[in-house]
Amino acid sequence: MRFPPSILDEIRARLPVSAVVGRRVKLQKAGREWKGLSPFNAEKTPSFFVNDQKGFYHDFSSGRHGDIFRFLMEVEGLSFPEAVERLAAEAGVILPKVSEEAVRQEEHRKGLHEVMALAQEFFRSRLAGREGAKARTYLEGRDLGPSVQEAFGLGYAPADRHALRDHLAGKNVPLDAIIEAGLLIAGDDIPVPYDRFRDRVMFPIADARGRIIAFGGRALEKDVPAKYLNSPDTPLFHKGEVLYNHHLARKPAHDRGTVIAVEGYVDVIGMTRAGFPNVVAPLGTALTEQQLGLLWRMADEPILCFDGDKAGRRAAYRAVDVALPHLQPGKSLRFALLPEGQDPDDLARSGGSRAVSEVLDRALPLVDLLWARETEERALDTPERRAALERDLREKLNAVKDESLRRHYRAEIDSRLSTLMPAPARGGYRERGRPDGRRGRNGAPEDRRREPLRASPGLARSPLFARAAASSTISPREALIVAVLSHRPELLPAHADLLAEIDFEHADTRELARAALDAFASGEDDPTTFRSALERAGAGPAMERIERAVRPGDRRCLSADAPVSDVAGVLRQAMTLHRRALTLHNELRAAERALAEDDSEANLAWIRDLRLQLSALDGMEADKDRIGGN
Ligand code: UTP
Ligand code: MN
Repeated sequence: MRFPPSILDEIRARLPVSAVVGRRVKLQKAGREWKGLSPFNAEKTPSFFVNDQKGFYHDFSSGRHGDIFRFLMEVEGLSFPEAVERLAAEAGVILPKVSEEAVRQEEHRKGLHEVMALAQEFFRSRLAGREGAKARTYLEGRDLGPSVQEAFGLGYAPADRHALRDHLAGKNVPLDAIIEAGLLIAGDDIPVPYDRFRDRVMFPIADARGRIIAFGGRALEKDVPAKYLNSPDTPLFHKGEVLYNHHLARKPAHDRGTVIAVEGYVDVIGMTRAGFPNVVAPLGTALTEQQLGLLWRMADEPILCFDGDKAGRRAAYRAVDVALPHLQPGKSLRFALLPEGQDPDDLARSGGSRAVSEVLDRALPLVDLLWARETEERALDTPERRAALERDLREKLNAVKDESLRRHYRAEIDSRLSTLMPAPARGGYRERGRPDGRRGRNGAPEDRRREPLRASPGLARSPLFARAAASSTISPREALIVAVLSHRPELLPAHADLLAEIDFEHADTRELARAALDAFASGEDDPTTFRSALERAGAGPAMERIERAVRPGDRRCLSADAPVSDVAGVLRQAMTLHRRALTLHNELRAAERALAEDDSEANLAWIRDLRLQLSALDGMEADKDRIGGN
């Protein structure tokens, strides 16, 4: 059931997070926040923070984050409604009654779920049986063998027009229910209802809880009118509100902090096999607003990885339009572009997890796609044409509802536009692009984005960015991350994704990280052989320099007898801080650019706010130093 947001706010207002959390976690005041030992990981150094003003907790050891409801769900395993009921009672807030009508509908749906489960069993047994031989051959031919068939519950709908109907009737399922479940083709002009899915490989589609609510059927023969056929909308299934594989992707997405959306069922399967189970797909239509909402509940920046063809690109552009009004600070999309003619399944099967990670790592931010779409195929060689571009982009940005985000978008787009202006002293364009003033394929001003990070004067003094001020010295945090992983390959499986994601500043850390990922990819996981693999790869000298750069207080993490859970905690925290700092730093650069162009109070406030956040990060780092160093 759904709770009105006002009721949830009321409960939140009455129960401070520290009160709810405080029953489980011993909290200490730390400035305006509270801190304590993570309830999610055994740790000795507090990395769990609670902020009553903002109404959430954040756990650096696991990256978990949430409000009071989330906390009970995470710690006590309650469902959301259960958590709401419990806390409402505690807060003395009365919940609205569930209507009898709603109860009746729920009962009815339960019946339909049973019908779908029976149909699923039927399809599976047919795939396994004599009739399924052709389908099994087809699946094997696509490299979808028995273990995949099992894992994704694949089945086969026989060619016979009444196979499923007769089977279900034999189990006493009323005809009406089979029709309502969308399994038969029926209607006033159809005297005898018949099976909707015939001679197709069946992909079951489940809801977020794993109950089957629909099917997608793939034709075996080439000349069948519809290659894919889905269940129609039913009381259980609304195509635009469902994501294929949602139930299986939820946990891995949560654990990894990211979710990938691909176009097809087979892509989902291919990605899962390549080691990316945090993957979902819309159901043969463009991504809808509701599906986007589901993606954002799984991760802050879902990655769309669509086919590398015109249709895939168009689907990505359409997603930009759907997303714009709903973007929030910190909530966006990224876009992984595949080589022409490839889909994610091709990529995963030909290049494995390595190739997939590479593509995901290069995923572009939404602003790049927006820019690319508006600038590609467009001449920008006259003031009128550039002004038209400016007008069109401004208009697009009006769709962004969040005010502060709109401001950031304007600043970014303005700064890109300014690179198109002719430089006063020279002829031509400041943009080092094509001389005709048209943009390249992606259109983004590549040159600017590839500039090395440079710290602002204030930031350069911050210990967080010692590395950016002089990238000839290795930052202690970068050193710690890479050194720990080179000593503890057993931590790599859980951190390889993150490691591949980090942009290391120093050539040594970059080299060692690369070597570690390679050794990991080739299956080394014993600490001793792992280190010799790194040396064989020529990373020995870099490794030495890196270990010297690790803070004395953190060196204990490199010793073989440090408990692995402690080391993992330190590592996770370092990675989280690192990524957070990088994001803030990038944003600060954008803010400084905006200020240079328009020294408004708003831009100043923006910079001040970022500096505050950065010094808060400094504080955590310093804290850790104190505790770690004794
Ligand atoms: P495509 O028609 O591009 O299929 O639809 P495809 O990816 O080439 O399929 P294969 O690889 O030959 O099997 C893209 C995806 O959209 C979904 C399917 O998951 C399909 O893979 N789809 C398409 C539906 O769910 N329903 C449809 O009616 C059509
Ligand atoms: Mn495809």
